[in-house]
This record gives sequence, structure tokens and C-alpha cells, in this order.
Amino acid sequence: MARLVTEWVNATGDISIIARESGEVWFHTPSGTKEEVDPFAAPMTGVGATGSTVGLLDGAINLGFAGIEKRLARPEPTLVGYIVALVGAYHTSVHTPRNLQCAAKRFSELGRPEVAAYLEERAREETGHDRLALKDLRALGVPGERLVANFIPEGLKPLCKRFDDLCVQDYPMGCIGYSYCLERIAALKQKTDIERVQALCPDGVDATRFLRSHSGLGSEATHVKDTIEFVASLPANDRIRVVQETYESALIMAEGYNHELLKSEAEMIEELQQAVGEVLPYLHSSSPSHEERGARPTA
Ligand SMILES: [Fe+2]
Ligand SMILES: [Fe+2]
Repeated sequence: MARLVTEWVNATGDISIIARESGEVWFHTPSGTKEEVDPFAAPMTGVGATGSTVGLLDGAINLGFAGIEKRLARPEPTLVGYIVALVGAYHTSVHTPRNLQCAAKRFSELGRPEVAAYLEERAREETGHDRLALKDLRALGVPGERLVANFIPEGLKPLCKRFDDLCVQDYPMGCIGYSYCLERIAALKQKTDIERVQALCPDGVDATRFLRSHSGLGSEATHVKDTIEFVASLPANDRIRVVQETYESALIMAEGYNHELLKSEAEMIEELQQAVGEVLPYLHSSSPSHEERGARPTA
């Protein structure tokens, strides 16, 4: 019987993620272990397998979010929070095709046609997703184009910059880790999450196009599966790079999302209305319960 594949990646300097093809994943702290007897001290060099690759990638996301877990804001969903999220969805998707094509071109130049082909395919699949977010905003009576032109949620700026920067690197392998992080988290959303948002929207308004597509019910689940298979087929040094960037992106994403989730309802309404220069439909900042819900934590 063939031996099961074991893969490992040092993600943080202190912590390595180890994953077996059978699905087991654990975190390993090398300190106190003599290098010569620690089989995970040197970078892995063997082949990958989907079972272990998904363990590394999801382990990296969990590790990235672990630092913030105790501080993670969990506000009740509101319509204004959803509108801000749609603006964020627009900004994290509008440059995706261009960025992925740029990385694909670089891999062509580097003599890696299989990576270039994968990225070009992903660029095609992601084309038009920004339009879904704009349609959702319009369905809610929000002037979407004007809003996104004047407003990027502060917490999302580092994440957008990260992707832009990764895609123009000399060796832009990290962009696959970034994309995995975003898509994997989106694919966790299920039917109940969509129904919850639908319940916030005015009757008869369909404003969940982006959410449906970027959930476990839409194309995102397939994108995640395809990425896992592709990453598993890469040489070890590329798999290491992808997993390390998945961790770095998860850190940035956790901080950025939390920054937005900690905002009060009134702050969000103020930001949105300033950006469009008018009072938006359905949004009222006078509700005391909203103020209470969105209050910043004292800790
Ligand atoms: Fe997308
Ligand atoms: Fe996607």
C-alpha cells in the first residue's frame, strides 16, 4: 500500500502546520526540539495530495483568525452592515480579473504555462462579479457606482492592497493563497445565511446576487475545490508559498473585517451618506437599539 502523503509548512516562524492526506491536521512548535530529530524543521520537498493540501490551507486560515478570535466582533446582521459589505465585495472583486491576468502573464514569462493557464481561467471565472455587487446595491435603492467610487471601507483597504501587490511580484505565487483565503471563507456561507440577509431586505427586493454566487451554494464552492486540486499538483516550494500567503491574508482579513464589524450603525450610515451626498432609503440612524447594538466594546 502506498504511504500516505504528509505535508508541512512553517507559517509563522514559531508554528508549522502539518497535514496528512488522511485529513489529520496539527500545529507544531519546533522550539525545544533538536533540529536533527525534528522531521519538520526543514521545508517539505515531496509531492502534494488534495487531502493534505486542504489541511494546510484551512489550517493557515484558522491560524490567521486564531489571534483575533477573542476580539472578534459578532454584531447582529443589519441592512446597513450588509450595504457596507456589498461595497467591500465590489472592491475585493473589481480588480480580480486584471490582477490575475497580470500574474498569469508573469508565469508565462517564467516558463510556467500550467500556472498561467490556471490563473487565466480564474480571471475569466471572476469577470463580472463586481457587477453583481453593484446590481445588489441598486436593488436596494443605493446609487452603487457613486458609492463605490467615493468609498472603500477602511478595514478592506489593506486587503485590496495586498492582492494588488501580490499580483505584480516577480514570482506572484502568493496570489493563489490570497484568493483561496477569500473564496474559502465565502464558501462557508450557507442557505440560512442568505435567508437571513434576504429577511433584512425590503419585501420584493432581490439583493443577494453576489452573496448567492459567493457562498457554498454558488460557484465559490467549485472555485475552492479547483484551487485545492491545483495547489496539490504544484511543486513543494510553491505549495509552501501558497500556504504562507493564505496565512498572511487571513491575518489581514481578520483584522480588516473586525475593524468594520466594530463600527456602530450610526458611523456606517454617516460614511455611506457622506460618500453619496444624500440620504439613503431604508436607513435611519435614530433607532436607540441600533446605537446600542453597534456600540464599541470597552475592552
Ligand atoms: Fe468572485
Ligand atoms: Fe470565486
